[in-house]
Amino acid sequence: MIDIIRLDKYLSNSGVGSRKDIKSLVKKGLVTVDGRTVSDPGIRVDENTSDIRVENNPIAYKKYIYLMMNKPAGYVSATFDKHFPTVLDLLDEYCLSFKPFPAGRLDIDTEGFVLLTNDGDLSHRILSPKKHVKKTYMVVSDIPADASDITVFKDGVVLDDGYKTMSAQLAPDKDNTSYLTLQEGKFHQVKRMFEAVGKHVTYLKRISIGNLPLDESLAPGEYRELTEEEIKQLCEEI
Ligand code: URA
Repeated sequence: MIDIIRLDKYLSNSGVGSRKDIKSLVKKGLVTVDGRTVSDPGIRVDENTSDIRVENNPIAYKKYIYLMMNKPAGYVSATFDKHFPTVLDLLDEYCLSFKPFPAGRLDIDTEGFVLLTNDGDLSHRILSPKKHVKKTYMVVSDIPADASDITVFKDGVVLDDGYKTMSAQLAPDKDNTSYLTLQEGKFHQVKRMFEAVGKHVTYLKRISIGNLPLDESLAPGEYRELTEEEIKQLCEEI
């Protein structure tokens, strides 16, 4: 496949530096394309086949970005919103240059793991109802979840619109906290499941997607790229 992009985009996506840094490298004659020194950072190259080098070091093209974010409350997990800031507002320019989007939604008041990527295929697989990718939530409710809720959620609970949920694992913890693992993602599902058993969710945080736990060192609003190993782990599961 031929994928033609600008040389400076190729190099900045691949972590060589900012567009300004790249302009300066080109000016100094340190960048070659297929063996020829280039003078224009805007020339077109093929991301799959061009041999791009900086100071003779081959630069592999980075096409995709995979970000793990700890979404804070108050942010919408969308690329645009008329009224509220979105998770994209938390990203730096480098990450934004990949044009990532959130793979799935959390409510505005929900915190926790949002995966942002520009890999449409991976995002599609994570969200596909057929894949049943598990998601685990930490839930605080006004009344603590109890043993009967474990059974009800395991067997499937009927929501306000008549939908019966798939089997879910509930693990009550101390005080009013519990952990709920779902294999589907209906609108406001956790909150509606708790309402169905007479409890109101007062705090909600997603703590894992598939076999990937949210990095606990990420404060709300912080994010980091997934490691190669984590990407592999996620892809293996879906
Ligand atoms: N379930 C909810 O109710 N809200 C979320 O944000 C995610 C799951």
